[in-house]
Amino acid sequence: MQPQYIDLPKICDPRGNLTFVQGHDQVPFDIARAYWTYDVPGGEERGGHAHRVSQELIIAVGGSFDVKLFDGKNTVTYTLNRPYRGLLVPPGYWRVLDNFSSGSVCLVLTSTAYSEDDYIRDYNEFLSTTRP
Ligand code: TYD
Repeated sequence: MQPQYIDLPKICDPRGNLTFVQGHDQVPFDIARAYWTYDVPGGEERGGHAHRVSQELIIAVGGSFDVKLFDGKNTVTYTLNRPYRGLLVPPGYWRVLDNFSSGSVCLVLTSTAYSEDDYIRDYNEFLSTTRP
């Protein structure tokens, strides 16, 4: 599986728009957990780790930010700036989130409950997992 944008349903309405996501429908996994980051000061970075197993869908439900994904060889930058567009991140990608706009909210839906064992936070350890 490759990282990819997933355009979610958008129900347009003069009262305001609505977007939804269901496990195994718009995302290829059961959603076990949601977390979100907000009040990120200008110039700050989040992330800086990889997951061993967990799959994630990252959504800018407010504002915008960049997600840099490194597979051990190449880095691709994905900009998220629409509340109806998610970025599917398979396990095994070192991710850094930066360039947060003021007031942005980063929602993350994940396939697993929180476990620190699923994190690779040491960059050299990550590199060792990506070598052939
Ligand atoms: P961290 O992994 O540093 O956040 P980021 O997404 O920017 O990499 O998480 C910050 C702290 O929050 C860390 O102590 C772990 C804790 N945490 C939980 O307890 N549960 C969770 O679901 C998440 C995502 C983090």
